[in-house]
Amino acid sequence: MNHTTLPHSGRKVLVSGATGTVGRQIVTELLARGHAVRALTRDAVKARAVLPEAVEVAVGDLTDPDSLTEALTDVTGLHLITFGGAAFAPLETGPRVLELARKAGVRRVTVLHGGEDTPVERAVKETADLDWTVVLPVEFMSNALEWAPGVRADDEVREPFADRLSAMVHEGDIGAVAAVALTEEGHGGRSYVVTGPEVLTLRDKVAALGAARGREIRLVELTEEQAVARWRQAGLPEHVIGFLLEAYGNTPEVGRTVVDTVERVTGRPARTFAEWAADHADAFRP
Ligand SMILES: NC(=O)c1ccc[n+]([C@@H]2O[C@H](COP(=O)([O-])OP(=O)(O)OC[C@H]3O[C@@H](n4cnc5c(N)ncnc54)[C@H](OP(=O)(O)O)[C@@H]3O)[C@@H](O)[C@H]2O)c1
Repeated sequence: MNHTTLPHSGRKVLVSGATGTVGRQIVTELLARGHAVRALTRDAVKARAVLPEAVEVAVGDLTDPDSLTEALTDVTGLHLITFGGAAFAPLETGPRVLELARKAGVRRVTVLHGGEDTPVERAVKETADLDWTVVLPVEFMSNALEWAPGVRADDEVREPFADRLSAMVHEGDIGAVAAVALTEEGHGGRSYVVTGPEVLTLRDKVAALGAARGREIRLVELTEEQAVARWRQAGLPEHVIGFLLEAYGNTPEVGRTVVDTVERVTGRPARTFAEWAADHADAFRP
């Protein structure tokens, strides 16, 4: 295997996607709650660079379930992503991953929903004697970091659909909901939509970022055609472009409706975009 830090025996939570936006937050929340955490990665060096010392790092690839055997040792809780490989391709290995997890003693699983039905989610729901929770976040607040280079360089955000509505959620709150579901009773067999505390337009978000960094930011509204051309230039695959057009141009009700999951599950109110912007203001300063 594959590990950079050898595990000792005991009950642990294995977090896949741990080097990513949501996974890192799950790791932080689990550690803060006093749990032993192991991070799954395909790249131990990268993982060690971004994860806290207290986390064990185990190398494995979800597209190759047999590479997970040792990472699953002593694990009772498992957080799963639903993609693996290039461009968020749906992970086809869900059933085998779940089989190995059950054999290893995993009792509780959370899944980060990726916007569509996937073999991972189906396998999780079909596995006997498993407490599963599907976490369905709406748009992440951290997506705003994509604007940072343009804001630093030109005080500008260039995006389509300036009036689109979003109940976007702080990634730390997604992590907190998953951490609770992974370690506390009462969340099995549930699917949790996770949102922020308010519905904002793109204009509202840009204004909040300007206020947080102490300098106004212009919003330049792109046409749909201009946006598609820019996404193509950035190398986004056509299916991702199609997804973005639909998500931004025709946001489904679930993406623009506030629900109280964060407060109900974690006992803390969901964080606002103004809080997120204050925490990340430096990324938007020249
Ligand atoms: N952005 C949004 O607004 C939004 C909203 C709702 C839902 N989502 C969903 O959130 C998910 C993305 O989450 P994220 O932003 O936290 O991810 P991310 O930051 O892009 O990180 C990807 C993570 O996946 C891991 N990974 C990828 N392929 C793997 C494989 N074959 N085996 C093991 N690990 C693998 C990577 O680990 P290593 O590189 O360390 O191996 C990395 O930790 C997607 O399903 C997306 O649909 C996003």
